[in-house]
Amino acid sequence: MPYKIAIVGSGRGSNAHALLKAESNGTLGEAEIVGILSDREDSGILKHARDFEKAARYERYSRKTGDAAYLGILDSWAPDLVVLAGFMRIVGNGLLERWEGKLINLHPSLLPSFKGLDAIGQAWTYGVKVSGCTVHWVNADLDGGCVIDQSTVLITEDDSRDSFEAKIHVAEHRLLVDVVRRLSVGEIQYKPS
Ligand code: GAR
Repeated sequence: MPYKIAIVGSGRGSNAHALLKAESNGTLGEAEIVGILSDREDSGILKHARDFEKAARYERYSRKTGDAAYLGILDSWAPDLVVLAGFMRIVGNGLLERWEGKLINLHPSLLPSFKGLDAIGQAWTYGVKVSGCTVHWVNADLDGGCVIDQSTVLITEDDSRDSFEAKIHVAEHRLLVDVVRRLSVGEIQYKPS
């Protein structure tokens, strides 16, 4: 039985692309990507979905009115796991309740440091020498659910803001693919916070 995953995102979709590539290379374990949903019609993430011939849906999101539409679309794909990969919205209660234990998020810092928007910029401005990325279960607290795994990135004297960001993205692509693969083969179980 494939382990079906849906991806939700807002932006360029490099992490979704890493998952799509891993699936097509046979390195995503039992995972099968069944659809990609975005709140941005012109997003790169939807282009990647179409390039890989996956179901691609655009839907405006608002916590008050958008949750129902998102619930309907995700339910129609019947995924085992929903992956938030660059979804720049605060998830509403409908999604949280329906997908508890099956909803993970990728964040570009070593949580609990630098929660919220522009985590990479926050870490750079703070001047940390070690940062990284986190995949965690989603709960009602912003970037607050139980950590599944993290990957570290060192900031050296030679780094610029851009090179630091590029390192974070490389680490994210590896981490997210690895976590989804491990979930798909039952190596990771849900841990409520
Ligand atoms: C990633 O860096 C991800 O960690 C971040 O958005 C970027 C999406 O990149 N997510 C958040 O900041 C969520 N709080 P992508 O669209 O290229 O995958």
